[in-house]
Amino acid sequence: MTEGPTTDTLTVRDNRTGTEYEIAITDGHIRAADLKQISIEGGDPLATYDPGFVNTAACRSAVTYIDGDAGVLEYRGYPIEQLAENSTYLEVAYLLLNGELPNSAQLDTWVHEVTNHTFVHENMKNLMHAFRYNAHPMGMLQSSVSAMSTFYPEAINFTDPEVRQLQITRMIAKVPTLGAWAFRHSQGKPYVYPDNDLSYAENFLAMLFKMSEPKYEADPRLVKALEVLFILHADHEQNCSANAVRSVGSSGVDPYSAVAAGIGALYGPLHGGANEAVLRMLRRIKTTDNIGDFIEGVKAGKEKLMGFGHRVYKNYDPRAKIIKKATDEVFEVTGKNPLLDIATELEKIALEDEYFVKRKLYPNVDFYSGLIYEALQFPPEMFTVLFAIPRTSGWLAQWQEMVGDSDQKIARPKQVYIGERTRDYVPMNQR
Ligand code: ACO
Repeated sequence: MTEGPTTDTLTVRDNRTGTEYEIAITDGHIRAADLKQISIEGGDPLATYDPGFVNTAACRSAVTYIDGDAGVLEYRGYPIEQLAENSTYLEVAYLLLNGELPNSAQLDTWVHEVTNHTFVHENMKNLMHAFRYNAHPMGMLQSSVSAMSTFYPEAINFTDPEVRQLQITRMIAKVPTLGAWAFRHSQGKPYVYPDNDLSYAENFLAMLFKMSEPKYEADPRLVKALEVLFILHADHEQNCSANAVRSVGSSGVDPYSAVAAGIGALYGPLHGGANEAVLRMLRRIKTTDNIGDFIEGVKAGKEKLMGFGHRVYKNYDPRAKIIKKATDEVFEVTGKNPLLDIATELEKIALEDEYFVKRKLYPNVDFYSGLIYEALQFPPEMFTVLFAIPRTSGWLAQWQEMVGDSDQKIARPKQVYIGERTRDYVPMNQR
């Protein structure tokens, strides 16, 4: 990736030595490596300490833009609200991966290619069958995506653009199949093969819910809601899982292994697992009468209000607004989820409470998505899978960008060593 023009500099004075250094500021950032010139005799070069990367950019990226203070999210410059309103998930996936919206012929080709790769190797089915009856579907998805690297060993040659594109198409096409089968497994139901007459979202619903009917027909309002949810979850710049994909991918491993690492990161309750945690929390609160006590517990540090707060958004998460609207449309079909009243009241109280206001804690994407998923009859264990499926396009867009970025190196952070130094081994009888 090319570097923008350097117009500014930072002067740093090292008070240990009195020496001044001039450091270039590019696009509002200094290069941490430029600090290496600052050192004292016999000491290590100056470095930064930044657990959780709270103020460190790990890449230059043109995929997704977030302004957390203003509550703005854009994919390739297009506002999320417009994409959710007008686009389809596969069109958005194309946009993320290619940088531009497809024209009609490009979209047709892309949809055709994805549709033709929805089937997985039959042995994958055997692999999934081997899981315990109550295996978490996210663990099953992660393992099966990882296993795909063994079915497509050529994926390691991803520097060849054709090989790379084929793996991208395969992964986006096959994750709904794997996710749906993980769900069927947990239900003890036979796996349903993809139906290539159906759209991406319809086919996914069919693989999840089809029983003996010859052709599965989903309610178009639910298909639209799923498309919107998929669009909202497609990418979110350098989040924990995108970072995991880039970090693991930086070793030169195949993209299936890199995406499997992303799925592992997403599994955690502080990331994609939060909507599952929100549902469990709402169930535990049970009635609106218990909200007061619950909020007091959160403020006393006993637990977190799941679905609230975000590392980047210090304002209402724009995705949460769109999802809130989608809940009404879904509940028109499914009937209202009774937990909605608790969620709405909880949000109202939290948005007025000084604890949350002071810390700029607003509902994030996970606060309402779980309610929709539950209304669609998904068990909480499936929620993160429903996040991972669309996020696959974002992970791959991030991975692809990293692969083509000459600035990138194998991810290998420094540490500040605080342990013991060079001491003699102590024999067992002297400890
Ligand atoms: N409930 C109560 N207090 C909270 C919450 C919450 N949900 N989130 C943050 N805080 C408090 C912290 O305790 C801290 O308070 P303090 O200053 O008194 O110590 C302050 O707000 C700042 O929080 P941090 O933990 O420093 O914020 P960070 O950016 O590291 O964490 C995170 C962001 C992980 C999302 C956090 O807000 C959280 O755990 N939220 C709940 C889980 C959740 O909903 N995750 C989904 C995120 S969206 C996604 O991944 C798709």
